[in-house]
Amino acid sequence: VANSPVANDSLAVLERTRSTAETFGIPLAVLAELTHRCPLQCPYCSNPIELDRANSELTTDEWKKVLSELAEIGVLQIHFSGGEPTARKDIVELVQHASDVGLYTNLITSAVLLSRDKLEALADAGLCHVQISFQGNEPVVADRVGGYRGGHAKKLDVARWTRELDMPLTVNAVMHRQNLHQLADIIQMAVDLDADRLEVANVQYYGWALKNRAALMPTIEQIDDTTRIVDEARIRLKGILDIDFVVPDYYALRPKKCMGGWGRQFFNISPAGKVLPCHAAETITGLDFESVRSNHSIAWIWQNSEAFNRYRGTGWMPEPCQSCEFKEVDFGGCRCQAFALTGDAGNTDPACTFSPRHEEIFKLAEIESSEGADRFLYRNFRGGTLEDDPHGR
Ligand code: FES
Repeated sequence: VANSPVANDSLAVLERTRSTAETFGIPLAVLAELTHRCPLQCPYCSNPIELDRANSELTTDEWKKVLSELAEIGVLQIHFSGGEPTARKDIVELVQHASDVGLYTNLITSAVLLSRDKLEALADAGLCHVQISFQGNEPVVADRVGGYRGGHAKKLDVARWTRELDMPLTVNAVMHRQNLHQLADIIQMAVDLDADRLEVANVQYYGWALKNRAALMPTIEQIDDTTRIVDEARIRLKGILDIDFVVPDYYALRPKKCMGGWGRQFFNISPAGKVLPCHAAETITGLDFESVRSNHSIAWIWQNSEAFNRYRGTGWMPEPCQSCEFKEVDFGGCRCQAFALTGDAGNTDPACTFSPRHEEIFKLAEIESSEGADRFLYRNFRGGTLEDDPHGR
């Protein structure tokens, strides 16, 4: 291994890691997308339209090498994600290896493939934290959104087992027009499950989710209610449940500081080994992403690769961003959203009120949300799509 080009590159760059960290800050936490395979078919999936196939996924040994390299360059936390990370048969082995090299491990899961024995094996392998996604607070809505019958009941079981095994739990609730009426009950569900944290995650509209925007976009009234419910719950549950909540982009005046700014605080590794500035970056066509299978170390890719440097900092920004007083506050918002909505990732994020496209896109969203379309176009990993049958699924 020491003679491999990657290892040599890695060693050479290791010396520069301190200055790299000072320049761009090697992220403390990295997302490892182990697979795009997923038993759920969520209409809001933000992964690229073209998913990595199982036969292109990094092998167990390749992932172990990546995990070792990440620990070596100063990463402290690894978030195992997907797709559904437990669809990988080697998930326990990978968690064990991550623990062995000193990484704090988090499993971001839909939970539906987990048994109690498997969860216990993961805990024994050193798993530090579990995050479970929920699609509602009861099965009628939740199983319909996830396109998986019996999924909600299974998630509740796994959440309870997580706490029985003494691992901290985060409930991730993906919210949109068709489940926002359940928000107060979802908050109570998180309390009842003894979760430490609740992420009220509004759907982001790129990747597959953009196809379902009309069925998912909340109304302005819903956003007002949501803000009120979250504000009240934060006060009432102080010290019991931390609640993360960000107003959805389309209804904000300023865009979100997506990923903390492109290439500033975050990268993830795709199932096939691409090192990406965000999990949806492959939705942007025309950008080439380096792979951990290349001759470059991960630290080199972070510091030098074209894809990371294209939208890093503020030099790339067009007007009105370039002369905007907020340019170092939001770093231009979200590149994936700019690409999805304008066809050019280098444009101003239309979520920003200063974007020439803001008005038009906001109006479109408002119209879509008021028309009340409720049919989903499901994401089906096997390649096809399923039109929604709200009564038959
Ligand atoms: Fe890719 Fe925002 S999701 S930059």
